[in-house]
Amino acid sequence: MSAPTKPLDFERLDPAAMRARVEALASSMRRRRSVRHFSREPVDLDVVRRCVEIASLAPSGANKQPWRFVVVSSPGVKKQIREAAENEERAFYGGRAPERWLKDLEPLGTDADKPFLEEAPLLVVLFAQKHGETEDEKHYYVNESVGIAAGFFILALHQAGLATLTHTPSPMGFLGTILNRPANERAFLLLPVGYPAPGCEVPVIEKKPLSEVLVEVR
Ligand SMILES: Cc1cc2nc3c(=O)[nH]c(=O)nc-3n(C[C@H](O)[C@H](O)[C@H](O)COP(=O)(O)O)c2cc1C
Repeated sequence: MSAPTKPLDFERLDPAAMRARVEALASSMRRRRSVRHFSREPVDLDVVRRCVEIASLAPSGANKQPWRFVVVSSPGVKKQIREAAENEERAFYGGRAPERWLKDLEPLGTDADKPFLEEAPLLVVLFAQKHGETEDEKHYYVNESVGIAAGFFILALHQAGLATLTHTPSPMGFLGTILNRPANERAFLLLPVGYPAPGCEVPVIEKKPLSEVLVEVR
């Protein structure tokens, strides 16, 4: 039995339009940076909801869409998350992390203090579902799928004029507890969302040139 199909809604661009489109996206994405200093200014929650919808258009193993986005605006819950994250981060920076890892983090100037977890108007916690509501409902390629959805989300936020950070206080089990998530969900990323604080600075870092990331087999 063959599965039902419908005509593909595909926009074929002429070569000039293709180049213009990709250059516009490149110049926008070059300006995307991880932000660690947020303004307390509120953001339009509907815009963030649309960004979640965009993220949820991502491909996923067997189309299982094994993700949940929990959007937190409650100051009390943000405070709880900050305190729990800082506990983990103090253990991480205070000895749990290997020396090599701490050295690699030096150029970013990060430490165990995470004020942005209360300052950002929203915290979006992305959960990965290892299976559906019951263990019989299998999910496939969960990490790959949720990683792609996260990428869509980060891109959508940036295109919408919002800033974020992919934060991973490790381990992140406290997020499932605080947010009362079911046992099939595991916290994948914690993303503060908002506007950068006035005068926000970011670390000076380099991105690898194309020659280091692209291999062409002709
Ligand atoms: C999976 C992942 C986990 C990350 N975890 C943290 C984190 O816990 N804390 C943090 O400050 N930045 C974290 N980052 C942000 C990276 O440090 C940042 O993306 C990198 O330095 C490049 O900077 P850019 O995003 O401004 O290009 C993480 C990024 C990724 C992709």
